[in-house]
Formats: sequence, C-alpha cells, structure tokens
Amino acid sequence: MIETRYLTKVYKDLTALDKLNLTIDQGDIYGFIGPNGAGKTTTIKILSTLLRPTSGQAFVCGYSVNGQAKHIRRKIGYVPDEFGVYEDMTVTEYLEFFAALYEITGQDRRRVIRDVLELTDLSYKEQAQVDSLSRGMRQRLALARVLLHDPEVLLLDEPASGLDPRARIEIRELLKELRNMGKTILISSHILSELKELCTKVGIIEQGQLLFSGPLKDILKQVRAADVVLVQVREAAEQAVAVLSEHALVSRAELLDPTEGIIEVQVSEAAEDTTFVPRLLVENKFGIVSVREQEIDLEDAFMQVTKGQVA
Ligand SMILES: Nc1ncnc2c1ncn2[C@@H]1O[C@H](COP(=O)(O)OP(=O)(O)OP(=O)(O)O)[C@@H](O)[C@H]1O
Ligand SMILES: [Mg+2]
Repeated sequence: MIETRYLTKVYKDLTALDKLNLTIDQGDIYGFIGPNGAGKTTTIKILSTLLRPTSGQAFVCGYSVNGQAKHIRRKIGYVPDEFGVYEDMTVTEYLEFFAALYEITGQDRRRVIRDVLELTDLSYKEQAQVDSLSRGMRQRLALARVLLHDPEVLLLDEPASGLDPRARIEIRELLKELRNMGKTILISSHILSELKELCTKVGIIEQGQLLFSGPLKDILKQVRAADVVLVQVREAAEQAVAVLSEHALVSRAELLDPTEGIIEVQVSEAAEDTTFVPRLLVENKFGIVSVREQEIDLEDAFMQVTKGQVA
C-alpha cells in the first residue's frame, strides 16, 4: 500500500531522510515513531505529495510520488501536525468547503458530511464556529475533513499531540473505528506507548534512518535480550540461586529479597523463553510461590533501539 525505496531528502546540507525503505501493507496501522527531528513529518509530506524527495522513490496505492501525485491525492487523507487557517466559519461550512474541493455535491455532500460528523462525534457541533472548538475537537474535525472522500490511506502526523488524556483516548477510539473500516493508516508519534494498543506494526526512525520496522511484538522480542523473570520460592532460596546459576541458559540469578525468597533470573540470549526457569526449580524440588515476567516498558524498548543515536 505504501512503499519507499531509498527515499532520501536533503535540505541544504542536512540529510533529513537517508535511504529510507518502508513497507506498509493494506490494513496496517503503522506507528511511525521517532524523536523530534527524526524525519517523520518529512516522510509523511513526501507520501502526501506535498514535498519532493531529493532521490529515491515512494509509492502509495501503487502510484509514484514522482509523477503520479494526482492519483495519490485521491486515495489519501493527510492530517498535518498543525491545523489550517480556515477558522472563520462553522463546522458545516468548513466541511462543505472541502467537500466541494473533492467535487462531492448535492445530496451526496449532505450525506457524507453527516456521516463524517457522526463518526468523529462532532454532530452536536455542526453549527459551531471552528475557532470555538477545543483542540481535541479540532483534531477530530481535521480527521472528519480528510474522510470526506473516503480515502483508502490515512497519513496522520501526530494527531494526538497537545491533547489531554481524554481527548487522546477519543482519538484512539476513532482510529480504531477507522481501522475496523479497513483503512490503511500511517500515524506518527514520538510516544511509543500511545500506539501500542492501536498499531499492528511500528517503525522506529532516527536521524532519517529506519532502525526497526515490524510487528510490535518483534521489537519487544528484540529488546528482550535482557530477558528477566522473577521467581519466588517457598524455602531454600540460596540453594535455588545456586542451582539456577549453574544452568547453561541462565546468565544471572540473584536473590533480591532473602526473606520473601524472591530471585531475579536473567536468561541468556540462547534461551527460547523463560519457561524453563520454574521447570528447573520444580525438577529440583523447590516449592514455587510465584513466577512473574518482568514487564518491558515500551519507552525502555524505544530507548534501547535508539540507544547511542540520541544526541
Ligand atoms: N524546510 C526545511 N528546511 C530545512 N530543514 C528542514 C526543513 N524541514 C525539516 N527540516 C529538518 O529535517 C529534519 C527532519 O525534520 P522533520 O520535521 O521531518 O522531523 P520530525 O520527525 O517530524 O520531528 P518532530 O517530532 O519534531 O515533528 C530536522 O532536522 C529538521 O530541522
Ligand atoms: Mg514532525
């Protein structure tokens, strides 16, 4: 659905995008994550045909951004990171204006506007002035606007930035609905955790280079090099530590809490998972109270992947 090949953008002497190869399939909700200045907006603008690449290629719905921009524009809905300036009108007038641009007329226009207002929960604001809307409502209106022509692909540049937690959740719910409608969505953010519930895949970009692209669970696996499990044994914790330490797949076993018998076990990279840890203890007749995998924080995962590249 979206593909870039060696996509490169140079601003004067700054390489904002450095041979970016990105593949997003139909129906994917692709979280595009990276710190400030990573190149997210640049990528999205090129895909939206608003900016020309310096070199390389990008395709959206099979059309090239170099030369087939017109076709692409019909297929996409682009929401920029900042709201436009058509604010001196009502919500309905605003949507009518854009519907007219998309050549949606008459009955169709009324129906489509009603539909997008309903979808974005803005029906009750249809007569409100755009500049009287809250930031969260404006974000939803921006989405309503790009849904008018029923695009297959949505390119959203930080749609949740600057929103309070409740508005963020509203946007997320809305995006889930769009996902269920079968749209392909590219959504940028610099907050990984914001996307975890929503995205089927994530890409991590830093300094114009894609550091990782794939299913979220793969990134978690990749950063799980330090795979840690906490086991609590009923008694003889010291001996349990000794048994664990001798196992080939255990790189570290440490008694964290002697009174509770809580042991932190780090398994080596060669280990498939941590399930052998309780098994080993049971085989050696230790009574187990609890086993808990250490939760991997998404932000930690992100920091690990981008480690060393953050200025
Ligand atoms: N018009 C421009 N002229 C010169 N440099 C630019 C221009 N637009 C972007 N850049 C530079 O290109 C790099 C990538 O910027 P971009 O806006 O794509 O990053 P981003 O990932 O969207 O960041 P943010 O999270 O802050 O929105 C930055 O170093 C930025 O300063
Ligand atoms: Mg940006």
